[in-house]
Amino acid sequence: MSTVLITGANRGLGLEFVRQYEGDGWDVIACCREPDDADRLHAIADEAGRVRIEALDVSDPAAIDALAGRLDGIAIDVLLNNAGMFGPRVQAEHDWRQCFGHFDYDIWQRVLAVNLLAPMKLSEAFVTHVAASEQRRIVVISSALASIAATEPGNYFYRTSKAAVNMAMATLALDLKPQGISVGIFCPGWVATDMGGRGATLKAADSVASLRQLISRLSPDNSGAFTRYNGDPLSW
Ligand SMILES: NC(=O)c1ccc[n+]([C@@H]2O[C@H](COP(=O)([O-])OP(=O)(O)OC[C@H]3O[C@@H](n4cnc5c(N)ncnc54)[C@H](OP(=O)(O)O)[C@@H]3O)[C@@H](O)[C@H]2O)c1
Repeated sequence: MSTVLITGANRGLGLEFVRQYEGDGWDVIACCREPDDADRLHAIADEAGRVRIEALDVSDPAAIDALAGRLDGIAIDVLLNNAGMFGPRVQAEHDWRQCFGHFDYDIWQRVLAVNLLAPMKLSEAFVTHVAASEQRRIVVISSALASIAATEPGNYFYRTSKAAVNMAMATLALDLKPQGISVGIFCPGWVATDMGGRGATLKAADSVASLRQLISRLSPDNSGAFTRYNGDPLSW
């Protein structure tokens, strides 16, 4: 029996990861900020019996340590850092706070806390759980918007947080190689979720199915690579 821990599991890609891993017979530890409001997650958990719901705000390091303590002794095959925050949107909401000349530095710090620091804190807190598993995989759901080679104007908070987590995870891949732990850095494509919005070209079910294939092929040989959901390499 394999086990996956998923952050941001109450909606969007995270909820779809829960649905698909559970459907495939995995034990799922589904983390979300407000379990009492996570109706769709509870619906899956109530039907399946293999989904354990845990409250977790990923920007709270003490809560991450407490969760790691509660899950002591449980081997985690895949640590899936999915929770993410985009920040203010100029296109959709005419909100300029992520644009040069209008930066809101408090929000920038919150985006960095969720997108960069949380995956690193989770990796530190859960490395022994992952090392004790058969598959030994740590994943971050990043974004093509992190690519410095292909950057465009705007969205500074999101771009910098994802570029930074890419660097951190690529470094982590080297640090964890001796323990046989592989690290995946994936862009899910432009997906129809709350974050992706209405114009998105991909359904969550299709993106997640492809990402799960990539995760299942993660190995020490491809650890630390930055890859699109369809397997294409992405430029840093
Ligand atoms: N959709 C796309 O087109 C796209 C493209 C590239 C990358 N991505 C990445 O894919 C991942 C999933 O995105 P999505 O499209 O599913 O986004 P989404 O629909 O906006 O969902 C975001 C998830 O992250 C959770 N989250 C945010 N801050 C959190 C915190 N402090 N603690 C715990 N959970 C937190 C949210 O929980 P709440 O419900 O509590 O807010 C929600 O479950 C993100 O990392 C995103 O950057 C998405």
